Amino acid sequence: MSTAPPTLTAMATNQNPVPIRRSTVRSLLRLWPYAREVRWRIAASVAAALIASVSVLVVPLVLRSIVDGPIADHDLNALWPLAGLLLLLGLIEAGLFGVRRVIVARPLARVESAMRGDLYAKLQRLPISFHDRWPSGQLLSRATSDMFTMRLFLAFPIVFLIVNSLVFLTGSALMFALDWRLGLIALLPMLPLMLLTRHFERSYAAIARRAQDQNGDLATVIEESILGIRILKAFGRHRTMAERFRQQSRELRGTELEKADMLANLWAVITGLPELALGCALAVGAVRVANDELTTGTLVAFLSTALALRWPVESLGWLLAYANEAATATDRFFEVLDEPEHPEQPLGLPVVADEGIRFTGVHFRYPDAPADSPDLLRGIDLHIRRGETLALVGATGSGKTTLTALLPRLYEATGGRITLDGRDIRDIPRHRLRELVSVAFEEPTLFSASVRENVLMGSPDATAEQLDAALATAQAGFVERLPAGVETQVGEQGLSLSGGQRQRLALARAVVGEPGFLVLDDPLSALDVHTEALVEQALRQVLGGTTALVVAHRPSTVLLADRVAVLDEGRITAVGTHQELMKSSPTYRELMSGESASTLEGSPAR
Ligand SMILES: Nc1ncnc2c1ncn2[C@@H]1O[C@H](COP(=O)(O)OP(=O)(O)OP(=O)(O)O)[C@@H](O)[C@H]1O
Ligand SMILES: [Mg+2]
Repeated sequence: MSTAPPTLTAMATNQNPVPIRRSTVRSLLRLWPYAREVRWRIAASVAAALIASVSVLVVPLVLRSIVDGPIADHDLNALWPLAGLLLLLGLIEAGLFGVRRVIVARPLARVESAMRGDLYAKLQRLPISFHDRWPSGQLLSRATSDMFTMRLFLAFPIVFLIVNSLVFLTGSALMFALDWRLGLIALLPMLPLMLLTRHFERSYAAIARRAQDQNGDLATVIEESILGIRILKAFGRHRTMAERFRQQSRELRGTELEKADMLANLWAVITGLPELALGCALAVGAVRVANDELTTGTLVAFLSTALALRWPVESLGWLLAYANEAATATDRFFEVLDEPEHPEQPLGLPVVADEGIRFTGVHFRYPDAPADSPDLLRGIDLHIRRGETLALVGATGSGKTTLTALLPRLYEATGGRITLDGRDIRDIPRHRLRELVSVAFEEPTLFSASVRENVLMGSPDATAEQLDAALATAQAGFVERLPAGVETQVGEQGLSLSGGQRQRLALARAVVGEPGFLVLDDPLSALDVHTEALVEQALRQVLGGTTALVVAHRPSTVLLADRVAVLDEGRITAVGTHQELMKSSPTYRELMSGESASTLEGSPAR
């Protein structure tokens, strides 16, 4: 089974946003606000490493004094103090490396947790349309592996990038000072190396980015297959999914290997070329010593300086690689953080004398709708009077759920206006609006928390009596029979409930705060006829006290409402009581008579 069926491949379509490529440094600079907090730690690390490295660079000078002084003169007494100095330098170096290890080893956990906190908060604030667009695995990988890459960079590579560059510059200056001709020969290959690393940096950043994106795609596959495990198994599709996973995982492996290849090639040049140049410099140096143009001590000093610079040069490859990975990880992090949120600016529209909920000329289209398609909602005019319950009916896919989502501003209407008691919903702060409007969705979602926490989600201050009343309204008496009553853990990590039980808890959640405006999206669809009747009875009481919009598919739900509105072709085509519409609206008659949508569409009555 090597080819995935079209539906599954469509799900896998890579919808990563096109990455904006900044320069590595510019990307990394954006980390500053987070790195600020640990700037002293980084500075101390740099200082410790720098002093240690400089003491390494003093060694050649001492060596020169030893070779040209006591050794040339066979003066053992003069040797001891210099040998002692060498030992001291060695001890300083070892000690400071130890100190740095202690500083760096303390993980930068706080930086990482601050970044992750910001990302999470942002994800919570971003509009639903963002989440429609972004695969969750991409967000997951940004919150985990990218974060780790950035933290690691701040702990270690950044220190060495700074220190090794400085050591390299100092060492080079020293080599020139010892003998400028030899210095020139030894440093000649630096020019092509610089060009090479520039080129490397660019291609490496691109490939590092690809690996990170593929990592996110892989996370999406894992997530989807775990969430959808029942369906995958029931339809015998787990093999297909496993194949898809293997394929993506192979792709990622390929990218990682490409990365390693690239780094290995750079390494070969970075280590080989200077070695060659040093060989030449030594040969020239030996000739010059033989000609008495150079002291032996200077040549020894030159050689040991060159050897001391080996590590700073060789480390350059992986430091650059790491810096690039951190830069692309930073880009990925800020791509989410830079996403525009809903503007929360009051329009200052006049409050008009009006009661209830009013839709005036409301238009809506999903951001990803094809450009040539008409708006999904094209001029909704609807008035739900205060205290009234209005049922919304319409064929499946006609946009009922969409229309209800506009009320709490889960999506923003693209035209027209919606008012609550005369106030434009865009002038009501979003948190306040969502306190006013309570919603029970088609698909009841429960979180891994207790029944109580799930129900009181929107009104944490509700009393025990209110909780009981809401559970009673939703006919959720089954809660009492759960192992720990309302304290029973449900959802992902708790007890699994049946579809109808979940729906009743979602209903209780919507009514517990005694909201002023209530939106129920087909709240009774998963209940058996008996329970449905009971819930309806109790609901009738709740609905009596609020202004409600109830999406209904069945006549029994419609009967809860005072009036009914028919949504068809993006407009409200008829409003009236059930009896009136049964007489006047053929569309309504067909919707209520239980005919299938296909018969409806072919019906000449439309
Ligand atoms: N998040 C989304 N992004 C893009 N298009 C969407 C989105 N949600 C729904 N749609 C499209 O909008 C149309 C209306 O969907 P909606 O869920 O509002 O229908 P509905 O009337 O509630 O249907 P049902 O009776 O089956 O619940 C559908 O064609 C659907 O494909
Ligand atoms: Mg719907």
